[in-house]
Amino acid sequence: MTDKDLVARAAEFRARAYAPYSGFAVGAALLTKSGRVYGGVNVENASYPVGICAERTAIAAAVTAGEREFEALAVIADSLEPCAPCGMCRQVLVEFPIARVILANTAGDLRVLTPDELLPLAFGAAALPS
Ligand code: THU
Repeated sequence: MTDKDLVARAAEFRARAYAPYSGFAVGAALLTKSGRVYGGVNVENASYPVGICAERTAIAAAVTAGEREFEALAVIADSLEPCAPCGMCRQVLVEFPIARVILANTAGDLRVLTPDELLPLAFGAAALPS
């Protein structure tokens, strides 16, 4: 699957976003090493901080299905620049192996980054006492 194909899947999932408070619908599509695609959307809440981003929803769906090794994540929104994951999502992303993260917007702009480019000097399990 090409990066453009994965972005197209993210755009399809985006139609299911629940974003009545921000009006900012986000879609994500996570390609696993096994070749499956899991979708995610932002799911907002009347108690604003309770809302969850599309990226974390996709990762949760994949992990729930038993997948932990990822090839690529595409995220798309109607943003001026390709949609950049928030800090919390970046931390969740570096927990699992993934080759690349594809940022996109509905205008068709793409930007491809590695997890290390997204979150340099990330905190990880290696820092924890054994
Ligand atoms: N959001 C995402 O789902 N992913 C991002 O990469 C950026 C932000 C959501 C959170 C909230 O529902 C809305 O977009 C506005 O911040």
